[in-house]
Amino acid sequence: MGRLAGKIAIVTGAASGIGAASAKLFAEEGAQVLAVDRPESAIDTVHVGNRSIEPFAADITGDDAPKKIVAAALDRFGALDILFNNAGVSGRAFVEEMTDEMWDRVNAVNVRGMFRLCREAIPALKERARQKGRARIVNTASVMAFDTDYGLAAYCASKAGVGGLTRTLALELGKFNITANYVCPGAIYSGMTQTNFDKPEIREVWEKKAALRRLGQPIDIARGALLLASDEADFITGHELVVDGGLTLRT
Ligand SMILES: NC(=O)c1ccc[n+]([C@@H]2O[C@H](COP(=O)([O-])OP(=O)(O)OC[C@H]3O[C@@H](n4cnc5c(N)ncnc54)[C@H](O)[C@@H]3O)[C@@H](O)[C@H]2O)c1
Repeated sequence: MGRLAGKIAIVTGAASGIGAASAKLFAEEGAQVLAVDRPESAIDTVHVGNRSIEPFAADITGDDAPKKIVAAALDRFGALDILFNNAGVSGRAFVEEMTDEMWDRVNAVNVRGMFRLCREAIPALKERARQKGRARIVNTASVMAFDTDYGLAAYCASKAGVGGLTRTLALELGKFNITANYVCPGAIYSGMTQTNFDKPEIREVWEKKAALRRLGQPIDIARGALLLASDEADFITGHELVVDGGLTLRT
């Protein structure tokens, strides 16, 4: 039996990187997955042939996107056990030069979109938890929720926001047997980082920084998300799970 047998999950950012690996892993572990990503992404092709994964094209920042996404999961699968909010974007500019547009875009996807999707999904998660004894929210933050780097003000603020949002969700939803936790990936080879990490001089620096001396792969983070989504995590809530190969162990 899979670790998510009989579960129904929404995974956002599921066309690429961590989200694609998570949708696939959740499905392998027995879940039925609504795989959400932007219409311009590869969401309609990347999971073709996987009968446990239903693609759903939506930009999570759209006004009616949360309603449509949750309704699609309920229409297609009848309930919702797991919401994995993973879609995210980065953007690099020094604060002095950062435009309002960049600040707003990064925060709109990484934290506002996440908040709005959580709010929309809570009634369905509560209903499922009443029937089955548990439901889950898992959010993707970053080691940049507590660390920083040049040019990452908007990204760091958004990811610290993910931490605050998730801990508060955990507090508010605990009495309904809904857990809320967040993963903090380190340096992961994905769509977001590929261009940089394909440069050997950049890749080597980041490999060397991590105690485990390698970049993370999307599956490394998917496995962390799986743990938090599974029944094994019944007493884990409001937790920050750092999955970084030891990148942030020392200053
Ligand atoms: N790659 C890393 O090193 C790293 C490190 C820490 C945290 N993260 C976080 O991991 C998450 C996944 O990123 P990834 O590394 O897999 O990158 P990725 O670019 O491969 O995947 C991100 C996906 O999110 C989707 N997305 C972006 N905006 C969206 C929107 N408005 N609506 C719907 N989908 C949207 C993209 O289309 C893309 O498919 C992000 O939240 C990112 O901030 C990544």
